[in-house]
Amino acid sequence: MGELRGTHVPVLLERCLELLAPALDRGGRTVHVDATLGLAGHAEAVLQRHPHTVLIGLDRDTEALAHARVRLARFADRIHLEHAVYDELPEVVERLGYPGVDSALFDLGVSSLQLDAPDRGFAYAQDAPLDMRMDQTRGVTAEEVVNSYSHPDLARVLRVYGEEKFAGRIASAILRERERGRITSSARLAELVRESIPAPARRTGGHPAKRTFQALRIEVNRELAVLETALPAALDKLNVGGRLVVLSYHSLEDRLTKQALADRVRSKGPVDLPVELPGSGPTFRLLSRGAELAGEAEVAANPRAASVRLRAAERLDPATGQQGRTDRERSGRRVRAMHQPGTGSTRGSTVDLESTPGDGRTDEQGEGT
Ligand SMILES: C[S@@+](CC[C@H](N)C(=O)[O-])C[C@H]1O[C@@H](n2cnc3c(N)ncnc32)[C@H](O)[C@@H]1O
Repeated sequence: MGELRGTHVPVLLERCLELLAPALDRGGRTVHVDATLGLAGHAEAVLQRHPHTVLIGLDRDTEALAHARVRLARFADRIHLEHAVYDELPEVVERLGYPGVDSALFDLGVSSLQLDAPDRGFAYAQDAPLDMRMDQTRGVTAEEVVNSYSHPDLARVLRVYGEEKFAGRIASAILRERERGRITSSARLAELVRESIPAPARRTGGHPAKRTFQALRIEVNRELAVLETALPAALDKLNVGGRLVVLSYHSLEDRLTKQALADRVRSKGPVDLPVELPGSGPTFRLLSRGAELAGEAEVAANPRAASVRLRAAERLDPATGQQGRTDRERSGRRVRAMHQPGTGSTRGSTVDLESTPGDGRTDEQGEGT
């Protein structure tokens, strides 16, 4: 395990703690799952603030787990750190003998440990072998994707996961380069991408390779497919009153999160009935107004926070399931963006409840900054 380069600052930490607290302060032992343990910044704060809470920390990256284990050593009697992909959350919780959990946090994307590692290939700004696997013990590498995918498949990955306008041109350049020899380094790939993009487009929107690297990382780690099954599975594992908090860093993650939560806060009964039929009411209520953003002060101090979107929900009691507003009551209402700069709160602004932030941003945690 190498020395840590730089310090990972947990994003929206106070807001996460505020949202999780009612689920964890209920008297007696409570269970919190950190599905993306990383360097354990959020997890450490939860353990400090809740002395009766047991942590189940998951990460698919063994290096992150090793760092987290050192950082959390003083809580050793109430932590379980597991090498797992977060869609394995239900199996891990069951194997550890817990019938349900009181809260779960997903802080998506890559950690600073992964981004800064000179040998892992996540960052276009430094030359490294094209790996990009969060779990280096299994799976295909970015090198295999870049050197084996067909033109249509490469173009699709770049267009869908990177929202890359020049996906076809970049895929063509990759295929031409493959005829000369295998593409093995992140610097060579970044250069190929730069050369494929028309000169005027190179001057806007950050580093030209940013979107391609994001797309490859999502493909290599099957990030969206895993998230799509993990969120419903985590919601199912929450006890009544249990809370889920998700921090997303690009619109594709946020859209999946929004859909997973919307499915649970929606009434499943006939729309024209004035009352809910038994079992058809919402099973969760939203705790966040739309997607919450970080405040200006936090973004200035931590560039990773610039693209964060927070969403959260709480499991309702089926017997009294009407607590909180249902989307039926809310229908027709739109919560307008509400900015609160300089309030001293970590909560910055919110974006429309009904729309996924359609700003087309794919900034990924200050990559290359
Ligand atoms: C942004 S970091 C989390 C940082 C953490 N909240 C902290 O305060 O240090 C995301 C972490 O989630 C892990 N991760 C990403 N996708 C995962 C998945 N599908 N299953 C398990 N861990 C995952 C990454 O390896 C990385 O360590």
